[in-house]
Parts: sequence; structure tokens; C-alpha cells
Amino acid sequence: MKTNLLSILETSMLSGAIALVGCSLGCSSSTAAEAGCPGQSAGCPATASGSTVQEAETVGTAQLPPTGAEASYDAWLEKGEYKAWKCEPSPHDARSPSPHGKNRICSNAALAAHGAGEFPIGSAGVKELYDAAGTKIVGYATYRKVGTGKGEAWSWFEKTVTDGLIAKGPGTAGTPKSICVGCHAGTGSDAAHSGHDFVYTQVN
Ligand code: HEC
Repeated sequence: MKTNLLSILETSMLSGAIALVGCSLGCSSSTAAEAGCPGQSAGCPATASGSTVQEAETVGTAQLPPTGAEASYDAWLEKGEYKAWKCEPSPHDARSPSPHGKNRICSNAALAAHGAGEFPIGSAGVKELYDAAGTKIVGYATYRKVGTGKGEAWSWFEKTVTDGLIAKGPGTAGTPKSICVGCHAGTGSDAAHSGHDFVYTQVN
């Protein structure tokens, strides 16, 4: 009887741990930092410098956009936790060569704090895209560093009300590669932007 009760308790504790609401799934560099979430799962690759392992698909955290399904991005952006990042105070006109129209940019803590050299895994940015009047959000662009290297090491996303999904996924293939990476490779060489290494505008 005692044994049965114990094993029931153990089982419910286990399923409780698995069902913890708000904890990211898979291997996320910030998992351990989330309040009440279990630490990095066993078997996850280390995210220390030198790692080139891509993170597993996630639904996102307070500091990281998802890398998973389109619906995860919609939910994450709707939740709006990125608004607590370092954000430009208000929408502004696109700064050349930006194709993004009126926009407002936010940098997460890892991106905002970084100096010279390659941005660390877990750096992320969000760009709110606005209508011509600058009053209504009409889309979003996000990126998140998921490995070491160049544009392929970032996971890209853009979606607007007029065009729908434009890009989603790592810069190794498809529209992330053909649209986003090529232009963001030009960072660090123009005076109009503060960033480098695929980051145009670093807000800090
Ligand atoms: C023709 C060049 C160009 C293309 C193509 C482009 N971008 Fe950008 N992007 C820019 C510029 C320039 C900025 C900075 C804009 C500013 O400061 O107003 C920017 C800013 C951003 C930002 C905000 C953080 C930052 O680096 O300033 C994100 C996120 C972003 N772009 C994502 C994307 C995604 C996703 C795609 C592909 C769908 C994409 N971009 C395609 C030029 C481009």
C-alpha cells in the first residue's frame, strides 16, 4: 500500500514537472533562468562558445522568440514580452537599405549588452512593422542567434498582414537565406546603423 502511494506520488510529481506551464521545451540557453522551470535537460548540447549545435524548436521564452511553428510566433508576439526588452521609444521611418517601412526595434538582453565580435547564441531582435501613419502594427520581423557562424546561424521570421508569412527558419535555406541573410550581411559597413554581424540596429 505504502509502495503504491509512493509510486503514485512519484508519477504525479513527474508529470507535474513535465507539465510546468511556461517552460520552454527542448534545449534553450535560457531554460535554467526561467523561474520555476527545471534546469537544462540532460543531453542538451552546451551553448558555450564554440558550439555550433542548433537549438531544438521552442515556443519561445521571455528573452527568446520561438524557432518553431508559425502559430508559436503569432502567440509569442501577441503576448508581447519583448516589449520589456531594450526598445526604441517610437516608430521611425525605415533607415536605408531597410525594406521594412516604418518600424520600431527591440533588442533582447544578450544582444543589447554585446560589444565587438560575433553575437552570442541567444541574441535576438524584434522589429514591429507599422502602417504609413506609424500608429498601427501591420507585421513583425524577428531573428534569434541559434548557432555560431554567419547569417545561417540566425533563425529568421517575418510576417505581415498584407503578405502573410514571408520567412521562417534558419538562414541556411529558403526565404530566410534568399531574402534576409543577403541584406543583413551588409551590417557593420554603413554609418546609419549601430550594429554589426547581421545586426543592423542594436538598441541599448
Ligand atoms: C534590403 C535589405 C534588408 C532585407 C532584405 C531585410 N532586412 Fe531586416 N533590416 C534591414 C535594415 C537596414 C534594418 C535596420 C532598420 C532600421 O534601423 O530602421 C533591418 C532591421 C531588421 C530587424 C531589427 C534588428 C536590426 O538588425 O536592426 C530585424 C529583426 C530584421 N531586420 C529582420 C529581417 C528579416 C526576418 C528579413 C527577411 C524576411 C529581413 N530583415 C530582410 C535591412 C534588410
